[in-house]
This record gives sequence, structure tokens and C-alpha cells, in this order.
Amino acid sequence: EKGGFNSFMEKEIHDQPSAVHDTLLGRLDETGHLTLDELRIDESLLRSVDKIVVIACGTAAYAGHVARYAIEHWCRIPTEVELAHEFRYRDPIVNEKTLVVALSQSGETMDTLMAIRHAREQGAKVIAICNTNGSSIPRESDANLYTHAGPEIAVASTKAFLAQITAAYLLGLYLAQLRGNMFADEIGEVLSELQAMPEKIQTVIDGADEIKAMGTEMGDTESVLFLGRHVGFPVALEGALKLKEIAYIHAEGFAAGELKHGPIALIEPGQKVFVVVPSPRGRNALHSKVVSNIQEIRARGAETIVIAEEGDEAVAPYANHVISVPASPTLLQPLLATVPLQIFACAMAEAKGYDVDQPRNLAKSVTVE
Ligand code: BG6
Repeated sequence: EKGGFNSFMEKEIHDQPSAVHDTLLGRLDETGHLTLDELRIDESLLRSVDKIVVIACGTAAYAGHVARYAIEHWCRIPTEVELAHEFRYRDPIVNEKTLVVALSQSGETMDTLMAIRHAREQGAKVIAICNTNGSSIPRESDANLYTHAGPEIAVASTKAFLAQITAAYLLGLYLAQLRGNMFADEIGEVLSELQAMPEKIQTVIDGADEIKAMGTEMGDTESVLFLGRHVGFPVALEGALKLKEIAYIHAEGFAAGELKHGPIALIEPGQKVFVVVPSPRGRNALHSKVVSNIQEIRARGAETIVIAEEGDEAVAPYANHVISVPASPTLLQPLLATVPLQIFACAMAEAKGYDVDQPRNLAKSVTVE
């Protein structure tokens, strides 16, 4: 049932093009118009929402952080992302005008379940983005938008993460459509970019030999850092989490702009640092800012592994290794840039002889608080 792969995780990494494809399926009509009828939630309510709070744990929370950039940009609704267990016990301000979005692969994470119960008691409406039909979180939510990643077996989440981002983006576009924040052709443009993602993800997977070999060879590394900005920041956090979870390596993700405020002190010769670089075609100064961050760490001896858009010439002088991903708008890049980080962690854990699917001390879904 592993389909010829060494582990479920490896299989699930390869399932990602279809996880994204299937999550988009049936949600656009023939004209490319977004139809989320399955939400079955009062549209006037969605129009009146004045705050969104995304609640999740672990990898799902990083999907929430990615989605926040898109939702705020598209819908102009203040959006917070919070770990469910922190949200639940800090007396959060939520009311009838708050839309809570719960992200959960299993739909059984007790921390997330307790948080949505609490939010609903305060009058908030909850939309669940889950991968497991009929599980507890969707059952206790006001509305559901399922991800269609298929069952995820490996403890460390991969395809559910990409599917969660996809579904949360659909929700963001739907809200923007409903509230008139975007023109139909702008929404159509993002949707067609989204529809092109499965093929691009496949390209990343097909070209993964180098990153795989790096994972295998770097087995004796003691610490790996990950840097990113904007949506690349949660991608960096996710890259670090994967390495901790399955390769048991000390790994940390940072916002690249935060480097000079502290983490740069960690850079010494040979320190391995992954850097997620946004599209050089983006309209803001993001790209050049990240390139100078790479320059700064490289000057201090870091070994830089740079994930960048194909044809991005600016990064080459400061990169020990360049891992190219197909061109995409920066907001969609997490669907591509995360994949090499997953493959790296998986290859390293395998090379070290660890059980990739059942890492020590972890459970697939944590059903206690
Ligand atoms: C953790 C899992 O315990 O729970 C992670 O090991 C997962 O992989 C997290 O991201 C949240 O789980 P779920 O099912 O709510 O998405």
C-alpha cells in the first residue's frame, strides 16, 4: 500500500499534486467562477465578519500562517493565526463578528476541538478545513470545507499541509468574491495559477535528486537553520519542524528580516542554512531583501541552500546549492517551496535509519489536551 515507496511519507510527498488537484476539484464552475455551496453558511454573515482567527496545531498552524498573508491581502479582513491551546486559555476576544477557521488534518486534535468549542460559546462562527470526513472538528463546526488529500498515514504531515493551504486560499478568494474585494478577473487569475500548481509540484518532485542526495549526505549535521520572509517564513518554520520531527535534528526557522536582531549570532563557518527566496518578479522589494540576507550569512561562512525560482540569477553568487522551483506568484510559492524541504527531511531520516512514518514520541493525532 506504500505504492513502491520506502515509506508512507515518501508516498504522501508524491501524492501532493493530486492532493492539491482534488482539493480544487468541483469548486470552480465551467466559467472558472468559485462555488463553495458545500459551505452552507449564511452569506450575510460572511459579509459582516470583521475578524478572522485561524486556529490549529503543528503543521496545520503553519498552513494557517501561510493563508493569513493571502487572506489579508485579498479580503482586507484582519486575520490572526493562533495555536489552539494558546487561544483556548488566554481569554481571547471573539464574538458574533469573528470567523474562526479551524485547520486540522485528522479533525480529532483535542486542543483544536476545545478551542472551537470555546469560540462558539462566545458567539463566533467556525468553518473547519479538515481532511477527515465526519470527524469531531467538522461535526462541531458551523460549516466545512474539506481538503481532499486522501488518508495521511505518516505522522509528519506533508500532503495535508499543501491541501490545507489550497483550501484556505479558496476560502479567502470566496470571501473576497462575496465581499467585493477583488474583481472577477483578478480572482480568475489566482484560480488559474492555483490550477497550474499540481503540475508544478510534480516538476519539483521529479527534479528532487539533488535535494535527496543532500539529505542523505548531511546525516551528521547537528543543526540546520531555515530562513524565509512573507509566506516563505512559515515555510521555513515547516521545514525546520519536519527535520525535528523525523530526523531528530535541532532545526530552527526564522523570519529572514529578524536575522540581524539575533539569529545571525548563530552563524559560524559551515552552518547549514536553507533560505526560501520569493519570486524575483514580485512587485515589492521582498526578493532583494532576501538576497541580501543570503549575502550576510554567506559572508559569515554559512553553507547556503537556496530555494529559488528557476532562472533567478541574483541568488547564484551567494548560494552553495540552488534548488529551483517553477515560477509562481509569491503567494502560491509555499505549495512548491515546501516540497524540497519535506524531501530533504525524509531522505535524512531514512539515511539515519529512523522510522520515517512513526517518529519517536509523536502520535498522528493528539486526542488529549
Ligand atoms: C501533530 C502531528 O501531533 O498534530 C502533526 O504530529 C499535525 O503532523 C498536528 O500537524 C495537527 O494535527 P491535525 O490532525 O489537527 O492537523
